[in-house]
Amino acid sequence: MTRLSVNINKIALLRNARGRNYPDVAAFASRCLELGAHGITLHPRPDERHARFRDIPELKAICREHGAEINVEGYPSAEFVEAVLSNRPDQCTLVPDAPGQITSDHGWNVEDSAALLGPVIERLRAAGIRSSLFVDYTMQGFETVRQLGADRIELYTEPYAVAWEDHNGTPLVHAFEQAAGRAQAAGLGVNAGHDLNLNNLKDFLRIPGILEVSIGHALVVECIEWGIEHVIRRYVALVAASA
Ligand code: PXP
Repeated sequence: MTRLSVNINKIALLRNARGRNYPDVAAFASRCLELGAHGITLHPRPDERHARFRDIPELKAICREHGAEINVEGYPSAEFVEAVLSNRPDQCTLVPDAPGQITSDHGWNVEDSAALLGPVIERLRAAGIRSSLFVDYTMQGFETVRQLGADRIELYTEPYAVAWEDHNGTPLVHAFEQAAGRAQAAGLGVNAGHDLNLNNLKDFLRIPGILEVSIGHALVVECIEWGIEHVIRRYVALVAASA
């Protein structure tokens, strides 16, 4: 069954709009886990405009209380890698985003970045942290990812979400399914995320063996529209019915 990891960056963005701890990111994360989410993701960017590096320990403690997983994602700068190693999340997803980028918008070119990624993955492994690389569905060289020592890949799903919206159908699911199959054949676990939502998730989860989806932006908007209880329960039901 696919697991739902709630990305709390947008709640952190609201908090940071004012000086105080409101909304309380940790309380939001707790509520999601109480309602059945399986994990929490945070993506501290270099300018810390939403999740902050110092959020990691508190969110990890909350995940521990609920028997849930914490996933920390981001570009492997020295600061990021130190924060991850010192906090030891369950999973670290490495993302090739430039410092000022609005959001992640492409996956790694793993061959070109092997010299950067290899040593980081090795340090994560030595610390007992599962590693995952954010990649495009067009990627072919999953053996290289495996050789670098990564455990999983996360498929960047914005192209799927855009196609779903444009065509109100599932034109790219087949291509994503093939990418997931290539990764699985290379011995990698497959996660997915970006722009998934309550409308497009069901079709995506027809792909067998997706281990985790991480969802933030749409989920928070949907919580504003429908309420957190309704939204998290619907997501939990969708992942429970996954292939
Ligand atoms: N995966 C990665 C690597 C991301 O950077 C993000 C956005 O921070 C997500 C998943 C979640 O995307 P969304 O907020 O659109 O659900």
